[in-house]
Amino acid sequence: GGAPLIDPFGRAISYLRVSVTDRCDFRCVYCMSENMTFLPKRDLLTLEELDRLCSVFVRHGVRKLRITGGEPLVRRDIMTLFRNLGRHLETGALDELTVTTNGSQLARYAKDLAACGVRRINVSLDTLDPDKFRTITRWGDLGRVMDGLDAAQAAGLAVKINAVALKGVNEDEIVPMLEWAHGRGMDLTFIEVMPLGEIDTHRVDQFLSLAQVRADLMDRYTLTDLPDRTGGPARYVRVEETGGRLGFITPMTHNFCESCNRVRLTCTGTLYMCLGQEDAADLRTPLRQSEGDERVAQAIADAITRKPKGHDFVIDRRVNRPAVGRHMSVTGG
Ligand code: GTP
Ligand code: 5AD
Ligand code: SF4
Repeated sequence: GGAPLIDPFGRAISYLRVSVTDRCDFRCVYCMSENMTFLPKRDLLTLEELDRLCSVFVRHGVRKLRITGGEPLVRRDIMTLFRNLGRHLETGALDELTVTTNGSQLARYAKDLAACGVRRINVSLDTLDPDKFRTITRWGDLGRVMDGLDAAQAAGLAVKINAVALKGVNEDEIVPMLEWAHGRGMDLTFIEVMPLGEIDTHRVDQFLSLAQVRADLMDRYTLTDLPDRTGGPARYVRVEETGGRLGFITPMTHNFCESCNRVRLTCTGTLYMCLGQEDAADLRTPLRQSEGDERVAQAIADAITRKPKGHDFVIDRRVNRPAVGRHMSVTGG
């Protein structure tokens, strides 16, 4: 393998998140505006090019790959990429290949994902109520996602549910979602909404503090802190009454950037060093300049020397612009 990627703050980069498309079949109200302009298809890297880039990262010490979007499973032929990346699991170069999905295509792909070596998936789901689901996603069908979850569990995939906590929207579902997820043997993580990309409302109206949610849950449940095990940003507790794991991702109320281990690759070959900053490097040009991977490896190494310390998100009515203009669907979470 090549030299490991260590940033200026001594953080080793072992986790690459790859957004394979900025498109999505939903338009969640905290994520996108109703009318989004997506990238023209000709600007996308091919699946072979994405595979090549990922493989360079793996050679340089990345142990965990997460395929995201947009909705990754709407990209044509996406299983080809999973199959190719799966070979790094077989050689032992990679510990984990996984996906973050809205679940709409899981009924179709769950078995194939498992066959490619995926063991664990994250499914974004913010409500158990079909009408509310349609309101949040603007037109999504909850029944399809539920069928997808059944298929995923039947295929032996471990499932973590990610729910963005939204004031006045799913506040009243924190407990029902916890009971439901843990009852089905799934982990559940709540996420604070972040100021990424323009949407049609102000995020002040959506923001719910997870510090508050956690305090409320402690009136009802015994929460035991668990040491971080997934290498992600969530801090986990065991809920003693259900026996399940509950995670909190708190970019707003508790910044976790000091332990950041990740960078993000977009479907156009741009590498973002932080979800909440503009710092980026173009990997497409060096990728296309030569057959060999030396130039790409050098561009990645240079980029990592510029990884910022972290983000400083604020959600404030007086701050009218998002922290960064890119939507989560571009950067890949
Ligand atoms: P696992 O720990 O492997 O389950 O994955 P993860 O939590 O890293 O991935 P997941 O896709 O479930 O991430 C959930 C959400 O956490 C993302 O969609 C983002 O909202 C948020 N998130 C992930 N990484 C970062 C990060 O580096 N900074 C911030 N602010 N948020 C992040
Ligand atoms: N803030 C927090 N989470 C977001 N997601 C999308 N946009 C935002 C945002 N602005 C979440 C989705 C999904 C994950 C990929 O990112 O709900 O769980
Ligand atoms: Fe699509 Fe996920 Fe964004 Fe919803 S949150 S619009 S499912 S990318």
